[in-house]
Amino acid sequence: MNVHAPLAAVELDPATSSFAADVTAALSQSPKKLSPKYFYDEAGSQLFEQITRLPEYYPTRTELGILRARGKDICSIIPQNAALVEFGAGATTKVRLLLEQCSFGAYVPVDISGDFLAGQAEELRKDFPALDVLPVNADFTTTFALPDEAKAMPKVGFFPGSTLGNFDPHEACAFLRSAGDILGKGALMLIGIDLEKDERILQAAYNDAAGVTGEFNKNVLVRINRELGADFDLGAFVHRAIYNKERHRIEMHLIAKKPQTVHLLGRSFNFRAGESIHTESSYKYSLERFAALARGAGWESKSSWTDAEEQFSVHALRAVE
Ligand code: AVJ
Repeated sequence: MNVHAPLAAVELDPATSSFAADVTAALSQSPKKLSPKYFYDEAGSQLFEQITRLPEYYPTRTELGILRARGKDICSIIPQNAALVEFGAGATTKVRLLLEQCSFGAYVPVDISGDFLAGQAEELRKDFPALDVLPVNADFTTTFALPDEAKAMPKVGFFPGSTLGNFDPHEACAFLRSAGDILGKGALMLIGIDLEKDERILQAAYNDAAGVTGEFNKNVLVRINRELGADFDLGAFVHRAIYNKERHRIEMHLIAKKPQTVHLLGRSFNFRAGESIHTESSYKYSLERFAALARGAGWESKSSWTDAEEQFSVHALRAVE
């Protein structure tokens, strides 16, 4: 692709053109800031899977441990024949733990990637023949309709992995409110939330010794180069993850090592030496601060469970408004 062609002259499919619009807007603002949703192309999803197995990255294995150890308690509050609605469906490891320990009438995975969803659904139908698997191909951050078969059932939302941590507080509140509208009054929600802790543990989890997190972070530039014909010099940026204590969040940045200009779809973007692209925020909560956020979005806290070291939490919420 001719990187100097004017934007209008390049033919892009709708997904790529909205990616292009977001990236050019992100690089035009100051400070530069990209949405973490663009990490997850095929390579990015694989790198994230690798992150979940790193010794320093405690969230995934800690949450799995809680779901395993507290399965009985969790299942005891779930009504008979409920529909389990998962917001975003990645690896099925976590939901399998729930499906094995509790009995559900239906499983409704909601995800933007239709092919991936169909593959996962097929596998689950094989392993849980009595379960109605009803995938919904939609962006889970927007309003979507539940399948007719699930409408009459009690609803249980599932949002593991501290994915909510990627949202700024006002976005987290808006998401929870919209999830409550979709699931309805009286619905339950099981949600995984990463906890505030010793800064050194957080730093290590996002600055792993093997450098996988840095590769994951830089992969977004690889993707922009490939999909939008940009000329980011990967060697001219460095991965940095810092803990912003005031805002209770890990911030991932890509820092320009030297002044440079990047070309993309006929436009130029200048970087000063040391200038950052803020690529992700990962918010950490206390049990109380999360319960207060949820309450403000129409959900009351029913129970919460943590691991012995209180590194990670799983909350059961009930929609009250
Ligand atoms: C998938 C958003 C929960 O914030 O810990 C992992 C993503 N970023 N390492 C997180 C991530 C860097 C992850 N979430």
